[in-house]
Amino acid sequence: MTPATLSADTLAARALAVFPAGSNGEFNLPPELVRVIDRGQGCRLRDSEGRDMLDFSMGWGSVLPGHAREEVVAAVAARALGEAGPGSWGGTNFSYPNTQSLALGEALLALQPTRARRVRFCASGTEATMHCLRLARAFTRKRHILKFEGAYHGSNDEGVTSLFPSGTTPFPAPEPSSAGISADYTLIAPYNDLDSTRRIIESAANDLACVIVEPLHRCLAPRDGFLQGLRDACDAHGVLLVFDEVVTGFRLAYGGAQHYYNVPADLVAYGKALGGGLPIGAFVGRQDIMDIVREDRAGTPEYVWTASTLGGNPISCAGALAALEIYRRPDTYPMLHAMGHRFREGLRRVLRDAGHAGQVIGDGPLGQIVFSTEPVFDYRSTIRGDRAKSRQMMLGLFRRDVFVNPMGTKLYLSLQHDDGAIDEFLERLTSVLREDVSR
Ligand SMILES: Cc1ncc(COP(=O)(O)O)c(C=O)c1O
Repeated sequence: MTPATLSADTLAARALAVFPAGSNGEFNLPPELVRVIDRGQGCRLRDSEGRDMLDFSMGWGSVLPGHAREEVVAAVAARALGEAGPGSWGGTNFSYPNTQSLALGEALLALQPTRARRVRFCASGTEATMHCLRLARAFTRKRHILKFEGAYHGSNDEGVTSLFPSGTTPFPAPEPSSAGISADYTLIAPYNDLDSTRRIIESAANDLACVIVEPLHRCLAPRDGFLQGLRDACDAHGVLLVFDEVVTGFRLAYGGAQHYYNVPADLVAYGKALGGGLPIGAFVGRQDIMDIVREDRAGTPEYVWTASTLGGNPISCAGALAALEIYRRPDTYPMLHAMGHRFREGLRRVLRDAGHAGQVIGDGPLGQIVFSTEPVFDYRSTIRGDRAKSRQMMLGLFRRDVFVNPMGTKLYLSLQHDDGAIDEFLERLTSVLREDVSR
């Protein structure tokens, strides 16, 4: 079907007339697959035409509690409208510390291991990592940051540098993955290769402010000792370690990757699951670093500007507090890990039964298939996999009413996925692998 055959009065056709490529970003769908979501419940979505879809994207992982989760929605509604309903005192934004943001800030600090002691809120993961990088540069008075090839830290300049590069540029040179950005002070290292990374840190140390890492890099687990090795190399060379916990925070463990891998960071960026589906970002850090954002330091050489109109708004914070209460329940993480394990085992079985060679990666409630016979451990080994097949698979799933991001490859589970939803997914994947994915 071409755009011309899309009936002009569908919401999907209207979306194509309003949004570039019919989306708000990153959904590279053929026009006939463009949809407009109307609502969600649990792990399912309904589009504007009344079609139900199994959701394995879950707002790119932000809606870990599940869609329309009663506790989260009730907390948001009560905060916005006031406990006593219309006419009572509520409100949506004050751009100032409030009872909700204070409680959430305390909760965020309470889960930090040794280093981080102060927090500020913003409205997205992109802002959170941007502030961490700016803070690192200002605090150390050095210009470069080091990131890992293929890592995404949001749509800021560093986040989209070497995000999907050719894989042939010699390390540590960067490759911009977007026009309009500056990649001048970004160095690139291969994830999971501690020796190469150490060498880059050592040789760049004089002008290297920080290393930023997604502790679980996309869906790739760190090798034993890799994160601790980064920690030690940073400490040895006066370089800060920044954890981008936008995905791992509250997902691998309540205390995120710092707890899961037992490695503390100097600065930590949060987003996604922290808000339980509400817009949020937070950056947390050592007190000596975070203190350079104090406005009474304005005018000093290290002073860093951070502010956010919507950061710490009581609605997002109320949703986040309700989400955190759910995450703190004793069965949350055993369940997420057990479900993720069952999911990944199921993916392996379905791949094998359909006669496709592939690897299944991921941890916690995350999974990804890479069509490769070789082990995958970094960006270059991942892109050696057959990416055409990955796209066929994701589009095939989308056509079978599984909501995924065909440009991404990560599959997100939530607290509302259960054995039935996983079995349904695996059944649809079986038909995709047999009918849509070339051999
Ligand atoms: C690891 C990581 N960091 C940062 C971001 C950016 O977060 P946001 O989309 O909220 O700006 C993302 C988004 O997918 C992410 O995966």
